[in-house]
Order: sequence, then structure tokens, then C-alpha cells
Amino acid sequence: MPDSAPRRTLPLIGQAGGGRSRATCRLRCGDACFHEAPNKSANPYFGDIFSGMVSRRNALRAGAVGAGAAAGFAALGGLAAPASAKPGRGDPRLTFKGLKSTPGTRPDAVEVPWGYRHRVVISWGDPVLPDAPEFDFDGQTPEAQAKQFGYNCDYVGFVPLDRGHGHGKGKGKGHGNGKGYGHRPRRGLLWVNHEYTNENLMFREFSNDTATEEQMRIAMAAHGGSVVEIVRMGAGGAWKVAKGRRRFNRRITAETPFEVTGPAAGSELLRTEADPSGTEVLGMLNNCSGGTTPWGTFLTCEENFHQYFVNADGAPEEAREKLARYGMTGGESGRRWNRVDERFDLSKHPNEANRFGWVVEVDPTDPSAKPRKRTMLGRFKHEGANPRITEDGRVAVYLGDDERFDYIYKFVSAKRFKKGSARHNATLLDTGTLYAARLTGNSPAEEIDGSGELPSDGAFDGVGEWIALCSDSESYVEGMSVAEVLVYTRIAADKAGATKMDRPEDFEPNPVTGKVYCALTNNSAREPGQADEPNPRGPNKHGHILEITEAGDDAGATEFTWDVPIVCGDPDDPSTYFAGFDKSKVARISSPDNLTFDDKGNLWISTDGQKKLEINDALHAVPMRGKYKGELKTFATVPVGAECCGPLITEDQKTAFIAPQHPGEDGTAEEPQSTWPNGDVPRPSVVAIWHGWGKDIGS
Ligand code: FEO
Ligand code: CA
Ligand code: CA
Ligand code: CA
Repeated sequence: MPDSAPRRTLPLIGQAGGGRSRATCRLRCGDACFHEAPNKSANPYFGDIFSGMVSRRNALRAGAVGAGAAAGFAALGGLAAPASAKPGRGDPRLTFKGLKSTPGTRPDAVEVPWGYRHRVVISWGDPVLPDAPEFDFDGQTPEAQAKQFGYNCDYVGFVPLDRGHGHGKGKGKGHGNGKGYGHRPRRGLLWVNHEYTNENLMFREFSNDTATEEQMRIAMAAHGGSVVEIVRMGAGGAWKVAKGRRRFNRRITAETPFEVTGPAAGSELLRTEADPSGTEVLGMLNNCSGGTTPWGTFLTCEENFHQYFVNADGAPEEAREKLARYGMTGGESGRRWNRVDERFDLSKHPNEANRFGWVVEVDPTDPSAKPRKRTMLGRFKHEGANPRITEDGRVAVYLGDDERFDYIYKFVSAKRFKKGSARHNATLLDTGTLYAARLTGNSPAEEIDGSGELPSDGAFDGVGEWIALCSDSESYVEGMSVAEVLVYTRIAADKAGATKMDRPEDFEPNPVTGKVYCALTNNSAREPGQADEPNPRGPNKHGHILEITEAGDDAGATEFTWDVPIVCGDPDDPSTYFAGFDKSKVARISSPDNLTFDDKGNLWISTDGQKKLEINDALHAVPMRGKYKGELKTFATVPVGAECCGPLITEDQKTAFIAPQHPGEDGTAEEPQSTWPNGDVPRPSVVAIWHGWGKDIGS
């Protein structure tokens, strides 16, 4: 159904526009899809009305990488040349026997392919800090929750704590034959985001109207993130929580102090009564996906923060339009946190919302260090943040804003990454340039009719430009200061003419080819007449994958080519496309969300919304080069009502971590839809999957 109509009457339960349950919509996104999309800018849907040639203006003024990038772009001919595999690397193929999901069957279990095994590593409520009590569903307290694993796991990151064992010489040795013992750490730190809470599953007879202060404080403590030390079990890919060793273990909640860094730190826009300095914020909210840096820290991204705030219509006149651009238009919040903490009331503290919506950097090896909100990476509904090193050694971070008709972004640091220099690398994300993307199709607009039918050149593809919004010292958006561009990044990108996308979720570079991939999860509000080449279906019920090739394969470039290798859905649906692969041999997929890669360059896609196809959410895998490109298979499915978060494949390729989030979300504590994983109350958890004979994941 079209969901662009503002303020419709909401059904009480059941499936929502985006394929999620009503509970998920309310609790995670504050019913974002039931409200009008906040992007009211006149930015066109048709990339084609721009000149087919990409402007060089931004490249010049933003201090682009220079001749190398320009030459690389010229070599691509300014056209979206199909991705070519690096010669001599063979045609990668995923050889596991893919799971077959039957529409209508929705098991309450994690399922993995033949030959694979899995176990729960940690669940909501399990002890994290040394003095944490064991989980007690009927004896929850905010104090206990602040020491236990939080709710709704999303991004999962891992850093090893030792150099491992075995006779390989590091990554790559022996991969693919099941006999490699390369770098195989025995201990490591897991980072997990706790995006939001499902109070209907956490508490008996819960109702928003009668929620107690204690329940709200428990929910606040169940948000944030966890650092947990884990140890390998035996020689294979199984892991468990390290008992007794909890030196690095940490809980971050909605009340943990954070340092604000970068050009907007201390700005008037971030100052409040409680923090006149504008440099210290309590808590992070709705952290969805993230990334891991080459220097061993985690990036964790605040997404639907708007839903925690109330009374935007009572904010001062000059703040209201800006709040509305971020989805805050007034009224109550389902969560009612303003009743226990007044800062969530925008009529009293209008700047408090400006202190959320950032990328946060966490150093997992220093539990006493304040996590840092990095303002240089802009403020929007951040999904993930994945770094890649540029040709000249700087750091690019790819960023998506998960809202219907919002934008994709890239940050490029001013300074170079220095291996081994933690102190230097801790400053990399505070200076550089922030860009938004404009994508231009190369097929005539009349050939893109919203049906998903390929245009006559056989591809949804074209060219793109990273439009500089600001550097740390200079704004490139007329009428906006650097601090304004960073705090109101959506408004800056509106003015700069960025391209309206179909809910950009996770963004991930392919370690083998350097191409970068973005999951565009869906957009049921895109009308057929609003379809364009980068977003070729209207409505877009099932989402698609965007592939970006930077000019000169350089992450620091300001120009790129792009194409859409996968258009998701039931393969029987003529609007779907799997890189030209035989559609009778691929799996169903809807609503791609989080992405990761294995070391062979296969793309792993977890989903949030396969209920639209009457199947459980899943982790799929697909080669992205060679003759099996597009052969999408299902590797794991998660319990009924859950979305599949994570995913992560460890560097030794022996373990896949997934995080089934909100199992049984349509139920209640009294009438559970799921009893996963222990046969009683449903508990969001992190799961390790490995091959029983020690083969690489995907073999
Ligand atoms: Fe929390 Fe965009 O998914
Ligand atoms: Ca085309
Ligand atoms: Ca997500
Ligand atoms: Ca990812």
C-alpha cells in the first residue's frame, strides 16, 4: 500500500507498509513509514535531467584526490562500464547447499545449511560486567540491566585479542580448502549495538499508557551497546563468552557520558541547560548498524533517534522546520521517556535532539574512555559507517541515511591513517570533507517506468558525483556554516541537490574488488512516476543493491560510476534481477539491510522484511564477480518475528556471527509468538555459525 499519506489511522497489529510488524514500526522507527517522508526538498527524482556529464566543480573546490582520480574516471569513459573481475582470480562460487524457504512456513528457530552448526553466544539479560546478576525475567531492575547484555542486537563487530595459533602465515593462507589454519585468534572482543527495546516482550501486561518509571529506566539501560570478551571453543568456529575474564567488558546505555568531537562540538546548536559547553551528551539512541576501523575501534550509528522526543510543535519557531526535516513534528512519543527525563521534551530543550543522530566511535580496549560522537560525519538517521583507505592513505567512510527519499554520503579524512599509532588515528574522523551523492542515469528517462523492466542498454547504471557539503573549516553550502551543515546535514544535502534514494541502509566495500555496495532496503512511497535509474521501481516493495565503482578505484575520488546488480523480490516476479543469473536458480530475498563480505569478495546480505514474501528473515550470500555473479543463496534463517542483524564473517573465515533481533515481535510476554532461544521468553541474541568439519564459511 502507498504509505505517503500523512497521519493515517494506524492498525493495531499486523503488517506495516515496509513489511515489518506494527510493533517494530512503532518501537524502532516511531512509525516513520506511516508519516509523510520528511524530505520536502525539490531535489529531482530523475537523475537524467542533469547533464550526462558529471560536473568537475566539486572536485576542484573540495581538493579532490587530483590527477589520478580524474585519469581513472576518464579511463572508465564516464560511462558505467560493467564491473570486471580482476584477471586470474577465478570465478568464486558459494558451494554450500542453500536453504529453501517455503512461503507460509515460519519456523521459530535459527536454520543453517547441511554441514553447518550454530550456537547462541550471548542473549539479552546475560551478565556482561563482573558483578552483573543472572537474567531474571520477573526480577528486572535498571541497575541489573545496565550490567547485562542489552536488547535488540544489531551491528556485530569483532577484534581479536591475540595473534592466534596454527601454521599459516596470516590471512589468505590455505583459504578455501578447509585445511588452512592462518591467523586464528583464540580470544576476542565482540561489540554489539542494542538498537531499541520491545517492551511488549520485556514486561508482562505492558502498555505505554501505564508504563512505570522503573520499566522506562530498564528500557534506557537496555539501549546502547556492549563489549564482551569471547573465547574460541576448540579448533573450529564456535565461540562462547569468556567466564571470569571481563577486563574489557563494558555496557554503554542511554545514560552513559559521551564526548562530542569535530567541528560542531561546542557549537551553539549543541548547547543545552545541562551541558552549556555543547561537548558532553548522555547516551546514544537507536544504534543500528556500524563498522570497524583499520585501527581497531568500532563505529556505531544512531538511527531513528527522533522517536524518543516529544512536543516538537512546542519548540521555538526557528527550530521547528529543522526538527521536522528529521521526522519530529510534535505530539507524544510511544516511549514516554520525557516522563522520567525532561531532556526528551523539545518544548523545554529544543537542542537536545541535535545531540543525537551521529556516528559514535568506541575504543573497545579502554572501557574507561568516553565514546566519541564524531560530528564531522554529519547528522542524519545513520545506518552504518564503513571505512576504506584511499589511494593516498586517508580514510573514507561510506554512510547511508535510512529514510525514504534520503541520501547517501561519504566522509574523507584530511589526515592519513598511520598503522600502529592509536593516538594519531583517534583524530582521523575529526577533520576532512563530507560529501553527499548525486547519481545520474545513462538511459532515457522514458525507459525507466517504475516496473523494474531493464532499459534498452540492459542495465540500471550511470555516473555519480560526490558533492562536497563542507570541510572541517569551510562550508560549501550557501547560507550555512560548517556547524549548521554538520548538525542539519539533510538540509545541506537538499540544497546541494543530492539524489533521493530508497532508504539507504548498510554500505560495505568489497575487499577484493574495491567496489562499494549499498543496500537500499525498500520504499513503498515511491510512485511509479518517481522511479529513476538508481531507484528503478515504484513502489519499491523489496529493495535493491547499488554497486559503486569509484574513479580510479580510489575511495578518495569525487566521481564514480554505479549500477544496480540486484533488484530484490521473489525471482518469479518479473521486476527482479540477479545480475543476469538464471532466476530459476536463486533464492527469494526482500528488504536487504546489513551487508558484509567474506575474503573471496562474496557479498553477504541480511534482511529486515521478508515477511512480505511470507518467509522468515535471513542471511543470504551472493558472488559479486565471475560467472556465478548473482547466484544468491540463503545461508541462515532467523526465528519467526525476528530480523537478521549482524552479519560478520571473521577474518579466518571460520565463523559467521548473526544477531536475530526482536524474535516474536508480534507477540506479547503473555502470548508469545516465539520462545527462541530457550523455550521461554524470546531473547534477542548473537549466534555463531560454523562448519562442522572446519571449512570456510560459504564452502
Ligand atoms: Fe535500523 Fe535502517 O535499520
Ligand atoms: Ca542504463
Ligand atoms: Ca538496519
Ligand atoms: Ca556491514
